[in-house]
Amino acid sequence: MSILDEKFMKGFIGVCAEGYRKGWHERNGGNLSYRMTADETAAAMPYFKADTAWASIGTEVPDLAWEYFLVTGSGKHMRNVPLEPQNNICIIQLDGKGENYRIVWGLEEGGRPTSELPTHLMNHEIKKKLTQGKYRVIYHAHPGNLIALTFVLPLDSKTFTHELWEMATENPLVFPKGLAIVPWMVPGGREIAVATSKLMADFDAAVWAHHGLFCSGADFDETFSLMDTIEKAAEICVKVRSMGGKRQTIPEQGFVDLSKDFGIPIKEEILDL
Ligand code: 13P
Ligand code: ZN
Repeated sequence: MSILDEKFMKGFIGVCAEGYRKGWHERNGGNLSYRMTADETAAAMPYFKADTAWASIGTEVPDLAWEYFLVTGSGKHMRNVPLEPQNNICIIQLDGKGENYRIVWGLEEGGRPTSELPTHLMNHEIKKKLTQGKYRVIYHAHPGNLIALTFVLPLDSKTFTHELWEMATENPLVFPKGLAIVPWMVPGGREIAVATSKLMADFDAAVWAHHGLFCSGADFDETFSLMDTIEKAAEICVKVRSMGGKRQTIPEQGFVDLSKDFGIPIKEEILDL
């Protein structure tokens, strides 16, 4: 038995591999983090290094004090995660104030967690609180069609969400809260983390204009599939616009009926009723 046989580890590596296969992770693009359960931490503990150095997170997440996260390494290529997990991902533990982290496993050839650690952890903190601990995954990718649309669609949540809801009948049921939009900002720091995590209180997915997408969810399947569904919607949108634009679409009342029939409330302010 090795730490790599643990289910959470396989799920994490599976997302990295599949995201790369989808074309969402050129070079070191994108990153993934997972908040481990107490049982998973106990199972992984025999493989941990003792007394490693603490480093600053670059923001503060007091509600995540002492928690353990599996995260991708900064500058590491998603393509390499399944080939050499121990050199491209790591487990970190946060300190009692949620201001510092230390690497307890992984990144054996050196390195540090993703440069988007502030955004990942601030998103985890808000989601942990608002979902009573249910959400454990934060995933950032660079899906091409979604990024392309941020150059063409108005950068407001209502227009963006409505357009992508229209692109496949079941989309409003998959992302009923819609898409948040973060205007272009310098990535990798506290400022974009604060802006993103504020929006994550109301949304499960946040677009970073001209950059990519952040998704959150309870588990790997749910979070990966949210990314997949949104990017598929963006792909259809790009095709429709390339063919000269919409000539017909789903009626506005159709979204209301869909929501009622499936029993999934959707954000009504997105609709023009
Ligand atoms: P990292 O390699 O530091 O994870 O950065 C990749 C990225 O997508 C930054 O937004
Ligand atoms: Zn990025």
